[in-house]
Amino acid sequence: MALSFAQDIRPLFREKDIECMRDYEFDLSNLSDVRMNAAHIYERLHDKSMPQDGPWSDEDVAKFKRWMDDGMSE
Ligand code: HEM
Repeated sequence: MALSFAQDIRPLFREKDIECMRDYEFDLSNLSDVRMNAAHIYERLHDKSMPQDGPWSDEDVAKFKRWMDDGMSE
């Protein structure tokens, strides 16, 4: 089954990630914002520059990539 934003991806973002990035540029709790910025978000997750205070595990980064490649389901 394809990964879903609500079940698999949204829970990976902490409240502080959402708040920080909402002030900065986009809303990580919002599906269309994440879809629109997915390539950019992935780049930062993959190079471990975001979140600045706690990079994701390789496994979670790969999960985000798989969600992207599978068509970014709701
Ligand atoms: C999973 C969590 C996060 C993701 C996916 C994320 C994603 C991104 C992306 C894609 C950019 C680049 C935007 C651009 O260049 O147009 C960015 C920039 C930035 N983010 Fe985050 N972010 C996350 C968490 C955070 C947190 C927790 C903070 C603050 C404590 C933060 C603060 C910033 C700031 C200040 C910038 C602009 C400065 C810079 O480029 O380093 N982000 N973030």
